[in-house]
Amino acid sequence: MRTVYVNGEYLPETQAKVSIFDRGFLMADAVYEVTSVLDGRLIDFDGHAARLARSLSELEMQNPLSRDELLEIHRELVRRNGIEEGMIYLQITRGAPADRDFVFPDPDEVKPTVVMFTQNKPELADNPAAKRGIKVISIPDLRWSRRDIKTVQLLYPSMGKMAAKKAGCDDAWMVEDGFVTEGTSNNAYIVKDGRIITRDLSHDILHGITRAAVLRFAREAQMEVEERPFTIDEAKAADEAFITSASTFVFPVVEIDGVRLGDGTPGPVATRLREIYLEESRKSAI
Ligand code: PDD
Repeated sequence: MRTVYVNGEYLPETQAKVSIFDRGFLMADAVYEVTSVLDGRLIDFDGHAARLARSLSELEMQNPLSRDELLEIHRELVRRNGIEEGMIYLQITRGAPADRDFVFPDPDEVKPTVVMFTQNKPELADNPAAKRGIKVISIPDLRWSRRDIKTVQLLYPSMGKMAAKKAGCDDAWMVEDGFVTEGTSNNAYIVKDGRIITRDLSHDILHGITRAAVLRFAREAQMEVEERPFTIDEAKAADEAFITSASTFVFPVVEIDGVRLGDGTPGPVATRLREIYLEESRKSAI
């Protein structure tokens, strides 16, 4: 049984409790982060901590934990659960007022709820999907327009994954005004003539922590990067494609809406970027 963290306490998962009036539960009034663990150490921790602080501040929520307190809890959960490879999930809600109310509670009276738990994934680095590549479908992007805030409003992404599954695919890329925004839980990229193309940062997409690292490594390796929106037609005509996120690192995309990219196997750019990302992340893990 896992040991999880709830509001200052480490508890067996079956004993951890949150109020039914919690605004995370009633209103999706909560933000989250997912940080991966390799070799028992945290990948890109500071990026996730910084984005968490930003998400909270954009929603006028208190940040109940300092960077060092946050790190300590992450490490304690890794230790208590013996995680070598996997993820740490963190969620902070606006707390549980005495009753349901649309108006935000007074932050001096209602404290945020903090929940954290581990997910053990022994095949995180050595993932078969990374070797075979994934298939994606395209769907309209029907989410709200502040996707740069990492809120727990995950119903539409969840529906997108279900639509992909029904179509015999692995994930969905979302399209708005003719251009790809991102994957349901990852950032989206195409490669054409050696150039990496991915949507530029704005309120339209989540500012992926893995994205930032991968683009930095790509530039350091003298690869050309173009940050601009691209269409699904452009993606179908690309030489290769890939996604990035804390839980996948880099996954090659080998098919989009039934159209095979190249020879239908993972492309060299995605494969190389995955190798570099894993190597560099292991080195800088804390
Ligand atoms: N998802 N875009 C969306 C919509 C995401 O939900 C995520 C992360 C990303 C990639 O961000 P990062 O590289 O910081 O993980 C992009 C997490 C992994 C999840 O929901 O499980």
